[in-house]
Amino acid sequence: MPKRNLGPATKVSKELLGMLNQAIASELQVAIQYVWQHVQWGGVKGFAVQDELRAIGIAEMKHAEAIAERLYYLGGIPTTKPTPIFVGTTLKEMIAQDVKDEEGAIKLYKQIVEKARKEGDETTNRLFREILQQEEDHHDTFTTLLEDL
Ligand SMILES: [Fe+2]
Ligand SMILES: [Fe+2]
Repeated sequence: MPKRNLGPATKVSKELLGMLNQAIASELQVAIQYVWQHVQWGGVKGFAVQDELRAIGIAEMKHAEAIAERLYYLGGIPTTKPTPIFVGTTLKEMIAQDVKDEEGAIKLYKQIVEKARKEGDETTNRLFREILQQEEDHHDTFTTLLEDL
């Protein structure tokens, strides 16, 4: 990649950069959390859940990558530190936590969509509207699974 002497074409506030790093930290958290839950699941009902956990975990890592690319373009340095990971012991405990984490992501990403719009950063706005839709799907999947646990 060529060296940028003049900085990116789009400039955003420190606050928005901080929110993007918050998003990366939570994506890293759930990427690890879901894949480790996929490894550590138990019980008969776990059969139905384990593939879903793995697939969603990998999707979260892709979100982390996409957000990191955007943050780096905007002049920020992507964090390598996840927010605290909760694996849990029972399946019910695991999925109940995952529902909460998806709710947290949905809340934060709505704020980022709004903030990016206010700052005229259309690309970040679009990226987070796309990711937001996927987090709503994850939330839907986890709440449906939780009903049967
Ligand atoms: Fe995500
Ligand atoms: Fe998610």
